[in-house]
Amino acid sequence: MFPVADIRALFPALSLTDNDVSRVCLDNPAGTQVPKSVAGAIANYMLTNASNMGGHFTTSLNTDAVTLKAHEDIALFLGAKSSAEVIIGQSMTSLTFHLSRSICRDFQPGDEIIVSRVEHEGNIGPWLEIAKDKGLNIRWVDFDRETWLIEPENLAAVLTDKTRLVCLNFASNMTGSINDIAALTRLAHDAGAQVFVDAVQLAPHHLVDVQALGCDYLVCSSYKFFGPHLGILWGKEEVLAALHPYKGRCVSDALPDRFEAGTPQFELLAGLSATVQYFEDLGSRTGAEGSRRALIAAAYQQSRDYEEPLTNTLIDGLGNIAGIKIFGITNPNRVHQRVPTISIRHDKVMPGVIAKALADAGIYVWHGHNYAYEPTRFLNIPEEEGVVRVGLAHYNTNEEVTRVVEAVDAATRGLQVNSK
Ligand SMILES: Cc1ncc(COP(=O)(O)O)c(C=O)c1O
Repeated sequence: MFPVADIRALFPALSLTDNDVSRVCLDNPAGTQVPKSVAGAIANYMLTNASNMGGHFTTSLNTDAVTLKAHEDIALFLGAKSSAEVIIGQSMTSLTFHLSRSICRDFQPGDEIIVSRVEHEGNIGPWLEIAKDKGLNIRWVDFDRETWLIEPENLAAVLTDKTRLVCLNFASNMTGSINDIAALTRLAHDAGAQVFVDAVQLAPHHLVDVQALGCDYLVCSSYKFFGPHLGILWGKEEVLAALHPYKGRCVSDALPDRFEAGTPQFELLAGLSATVQYFEDLGSRTGAEGSRRALIAAAYQQSRDYEEPLTNTLIDGLGNIAGIKIFGITNPNRVHQRVPTISIRHDKVMPGVIAKALADAGIYVWHGHNYAYEPTRFLNIPEEEGVVRVGLAHYNTNEEVTRVVEAVDAATRGLQVNSK
């Protein structure tokens, strides 16, 4: 039995009420709630160690240690070879913009970057901008409207001897589908291109193993997996070391410093280590033993075993509401090929109207294109309307799923949504 009640007790925000209405947090794809231990680590750093790096005094030495530990913990978390491969910054988007300049520095006019149409704008905008600056060509690879996946043959069809980089989405923040990154990476590498993977939506639900994937770069954001508002960029050490870093003259040329401009958010780095610890504790709580990574892997496995039936119940409930269309995999036997992010539209009631009715009843969901701007347009959905997006995390319950299904049903029939 997955200890969901015990887990919920670790997240203070989950038991809060708004005007006596209990909250149902299904806004998880835009950011998850945070356990007390993570918030406590952030506060503790600020209250006891606030300082900068590189001094001889206690708070500065402690700040050095916090910074190193955060990089080491994330290296363990992602399966990286060392902490030198881990660059931490403000967000996935800002890191991608920052590194895109170094990654594409030696690309020549006419060189090609392939971008998939299922990407979040964070893995599109930076490449469109650098392509404009350097006269590069962007080639698009569609996702399949039946399977909801980037099919290898579709990628193979756009790879050429001019392809330098392939930008791929691991799990979509709209359709939820999980692409076979290892297979797609092999194809790109065979064509001589590097691969940049957006794992922002995968990381809350699956353990990332960068060695097994074989890609060159991978990005994620810790606020999507119960941590602080930070972005993380992993790159193969030899690949990062070969890039030209855009940095101040007195900044170290060592990795990862050469790509971490300015003073880091030390308090959030303390929170980041606590986030990795949260996964380890969750692994132990569900009975696992072994190495730190084995505990984290067990935490993910247990969470997924709990989330997948809940996802199927949610898809089934939403799919049975008259007029609702689901944009993503609905076959319960393929639930392992998606994360629990469900995007829907009703044939008459606008997404914003449904989301507002749910919010008034204490049920938090997102609406709009949610920066899945390209997939929204590809699916011929008016981007200013978008979808209603309901996203589960391992702390959600069956009761909450029932509540959101009833609420969507009521909202689409123009009825008052019950708040419990
Ligand atoms: C798939 C995906 N990629 C990238 C991002 C952007 O992440 P960040 O807010 O850290 O820039 C998001 C945010 O929602 C996302 O869902």
